[in-house]
Amino acid sequence: MYSIAIDGPAGAGKSTIAKEIAKRLGFIYVDTGAMYRAMGLCFLRKGIDGHDRETIADLCPSIRVDLSYDGEGRQQVILNGENVTPFIRQEEVGQMASVTSAIPEVRAALLDLQRNMALTSDIIMDGRDIGTHVLPDATLKIYLTASPGVRARRRYDELCEKGIPCDLNRIEEDIIKRDQQDMTREIAPLKQAEDAILLDSSDMSIQEVVSAILEEFEKIR
Ligand code: DC
Repeated sequence: MYSIAIDGPAGAGKSTIAKEIAKRLGFIYVDTGAMYRAMGLCFLRKGIDGHDRETIADLCPSIRVDLSYDGEGRQQVILNGENVTPFIRQEEVGQMASVTSAIPEVRAALLDLQRNMALTSDIIMDGRDIGTHVLPDATLKIYLTASPGVRARRRYDELCEKGIPCDLNRIEEDIIKRDQQDMTREIAPLKQAEDAILLDSSDMSIQEVVSAILEEFEKIR
């Protein structure tokens, strides 16, 4: 089985790139951030403070996250039997996911599911700790980044296109805050794996990044 790990900070374009590569190679795309978001949504709905480690740890055994794929191969996230895919994209859910993903019980609840997916299919998986923890033996590891300014601008354009009102400075502040949380937590922090290839997409188009990764994959497959 082949596995490609793509890690990097929020808004670096990981999911756009990973989806395109999955299509080109016929691999399954696994968005692990969506799994942390589903857990975050669960805590938000229950009105739990994201820093209340004890309550969250106690709750973890009763939360079940599954993945399924629709007719067009798009990943769906199932939280305790409910398809929550339409509800996990808000910034509030992303922030909750970032805070609660620092809790060991939350990470442990998702790890086996992530690893098992790589046992049965060729996959491209994106997240923060895929190359460092989830799939340390991945066929190819990419660390995809871009400057905070560029990431904020991309997110801003995406929201404007959808007609969602937003503020560029606020988006950049949120991105910097999330980077800080994800990079400084004790367990499985965001960092480049030693054997990962660094790609800075600040001045690259989506197609350029996709081609660069496919080229690297062809070298070692
Ligand atoms: O990629 P994303 O924005 O959907 O991820 C939401 C949060 O989930 C992110 O800020 C940190 C956490 N996360 C994680 O800790 N490990 C992963 N492999 C993926 C996401």
